[in-house]
Amino acid sequence: MKALTWQGKRSVSVEDVPDPRIEDASDAIVRITSTAICGSDLHLYEVLGPYMHKGDVLGHEPMGIVEEVGSSVTNLKPGDRVVIPFNISCGHCWMCNNGLQSQCETTQVHEQGTGAALFGFSELYGSVPGGQAEYLRVPHADYGPVKVGSELPDERYLYLSDILPTAWQGVQYADVPDGGTLAVFGLGPVGQFASRIGKHLGHRVIAVEPVAERRAMAERHGIETIEFSKETGDVLREMTNGRGPDAVLDAVGMESHGSPVGAFAQHAVGLLPDALAKKAMETAGVDRLNVLHAAIDSVRRGGTVSLSGVYGGTASPMPLLTMFDKQIQTRMGQCNVRRWTDQLLPIVEDPSDPLGVMDLKTHEVPLSEAPGAYSMFQKKQDGCIKVVLKP
Ligand SMILES: NC(=O)c1ccc[n+]([C@@H]2O[C@H](COP(=O)([O-])OP(=O)(O)OC[C@H]3O[C@@H](n4cnc5c(N)ncnc54)[C@H](O)[C@@H]3O)[C@@H](O)[C@H]2O)c1
Ligand SMILES: [Zn+2]
Ligand SMILES: [Zn+2]
Repeated sequence: MKALTWQGKRSVSVEDVPDPRIEDASDAIVRITSTAICGSDLHLYEVLGPYMHKGDVLGHEPMGIVEEVGSSVTNLKPGDRVVIPFNISCGHCWMCNNGLQSQCETTQVHEQGTGAALFGFSELYGSVPGGQAEYLRVPHADYGPVKVGSELPDERYLYLSDILPTAWQGVQYADVPDGGTLAVFGLGPVGQFASRIGKHLGHRVIAVEPVAERRAMAERHGIETIEFSKETGDVLREMTNGRGPDAVLDAVGMESHGSPVGAFAQHAVGLLPDALAKKAMETAGVDRLNVLHAAIDSVRRGGTVSLSGVYGGTASPMPLLTMFDKQIQTRMGQCNVRRWTDQLLPIVEDPSDPLGVMDLKTHEVPLSEAPGAYSMFQKKQDGCIKVVLKP
């Protein structure tokens, strides 16, 4: 089959790879009909390259049609239409039973000391072949895949694989009080949905984003927007009676724009051989922290900072004095996708499309054109906000 493979920093290609097969009784094989590129893929394309291997199949936002199931998969049959959550979780361990599917004790990657295995997400998360491919082997298919109807287009359901539950969890974790204000940093796909969800739940939402067309997309969903600058904290305080937003959601992560120290560190690490680069990432501050620091600066005293954006350095400097003094709560982590999908399914099927899932995709291309699409998405060319690949 054809699959999109990682080849090196900023280099991916479509290659012929062996078809996946049932290896375990709880596996399913799914023929992929739609599969999106995520901001997290851009981290693998750039900063997290040292954890990738040449030929790794990328992709963790897939959906499609079940082709074959293992003997213990009784909830699915060939022909079913399913969305595949990006975390691989068993559904019966203590973590899964407590809504922490991204920490699944059955699939945790012990070698790396990380949480649940993820599709297409580097050796940090188990080097599991991903879903930007014609077919995908889905482990623990007796729990993970979300069965969906056959009438509506793929884009109604596709984002249940990751960004919609991620944004939902980010807003839940932001813990905005009734009548409160949520500031969302970043209007990539995650920030777009987080802003719309905040508004849908009755909060005032102010989004911060440097790219004009991303602000324009949010504005057509009724979101107030501002540009990012050194004065963002002051601007947000001015807009909220001098106090600051009750909660701030960071939907940017470790590759923010306008963070010269982190950018330099990331560039320097990128020049090292993999083993040294990993060591550097484990011991030095390699995150671009301007957004996280702006979030801590702008949130009101006693407010919450919720991180959906991914960070990767183990020694990134944090303003602990301010965090302690302002009594800030923080919550973060990979999304527990399966915790939220039952709640989100009726919302994406609602004919009025309350979260505007049909207004996110800006580009649809065949899998063969994925390499160009990665580059376009990373460079934010041609108004690109979300790419959906059709294998
Ligand atoms: N927690 C999870 O489970 C989870 C799931 C999916 C994605 N993510 C992470 O969420 C983040 C966003 O993902 P995405 O798909 O929306 O990607 P994206 O790269 O399209 O979005 C990032 C956005 O942040 C904006 N930005 C950059 N610098 C900024 C600044 N200084 N101030 C304000 N905005 C700035 C960019 O212009 C862009 O619009 C990534 O870090 C991704 O890895 C996490
Ligand atoms: Zn993703
Ligand atoms: Zn589990």
